[in-house]
Amino acid sequence: MNVQALVETTRKLMDGGRGLLAMDESPATCNKRLLAAGIPQTEAARRAYRALMVTTPALNDSISGVILHDETIRQKTTGGIPFVNILRDADILAGIKVDTGARALALHPGETITEGLDGLRGRLADYFGLGARFAKWRAVFTVTEAAPSRGCIAANAHALARYAALCQEAGIVPIVEPEVLMDGAHTRETCGKVTEDVLRCVFENLHSQSVCLEGMILKPNMVLPRSACPEQATDDEVADATLMHLRRAVPAAIAGIAFLSGGQPAERATARLNAMNARFRGPGARLPWPLSFSFARALQHPALEIWRGEDANVALAQRALLHRAACNRAALRGEYSQSMEA
Ligand code: G3H
Repeated sequence: MNVQALVETTRKLMDGGRGLLAMDESPATCNKRLLAAGIPQTEAARRAYRALMVTTPALNDSISGVILHDETIRQKTTGGIPFVNILRDADILAGIKVDTGARALALHPGETITEGLDGLRGRLADYFGLGARFAKWRAVFTVTEAAPSRGCIAANAHALARYAALCQEAGIVPIVEPEVLMDGAHTRETCGKVTEDVLRCVFENLHSQSVCLEGMILKPNMVLPRSACPEQATDDEVADATLMHLRRAVPAAIAGIAFLSGGQPAERATARLNAMNARFRGPGARLPWPLSFSFARALQHPALEIWRGEDANVALAQRALLHRAACNRAALRGEYSQSMEA
């Protein structure tokens, strides 16, 4: 394992005050988003949508890395330029989602295990050759009275750690994404407890698999009351709860934390990220890790709504993407405010 190269990649991703754009939806998930925006669900539409994002002028002001899907890492613009070349020339690192999705976990009704370890060593070598320098694997945890079960947490934590070790062997920085889902009616306290339990188990497994913490990035959910919970929370309450549980469970040695947005409204995700960073501005008030973003919906959604599959809307949609990216960049410094949305 080349630790120095891994650490160098994490620095490029985390240290420049920029964040990550996740555009790694599977064709099926991307199609769902296109359908909701009234756009035909074709390979051509998915390619055009992804081209819109990677060719956004000045995207690199706020974005240090873009996570691609297997379909997208091989795609080109209509002018024939591979997306990875456009990103490279803009000083944006290319990443790749390498899990193959969540499937039903045997004997655990309603719970899933994320798959994709078979043949991963070979796929990682191919992706490295295509220019990917970081990767992502997402495990999903549903919260109910009975879930997540110990079996579900253990199986997914083990898979995340095996994935991370294979990535580091291949010279690719793993983004480790254990997501406690927002769906349901549970409280912020339950979300916090489950998030902390999951993270503790994930880090135990990363340790067992000899993963170098300095060469990895964690992509967790924020600690939120869930969408149907009658008691909602202020941005500061979300920030405090999230940081309390992360500080208890996440080793100081990791290279950084890049949150997922999880279906929060775009502006809320930004405001909550800002609240966390604002708490730790200034001398003597430091967190052990940089706090950044790796959003999909909270960056993309306004742009998709504007684009609607029309060439004439591309420039406006790109401005919307750039705006969300700039707001989130400001949130990394704790300098975002509602007035930026005007
Ligand atoms: O795996 C999920 C994405 O990387 C993050 O998506 O920001 O829409 O939750 P999201």
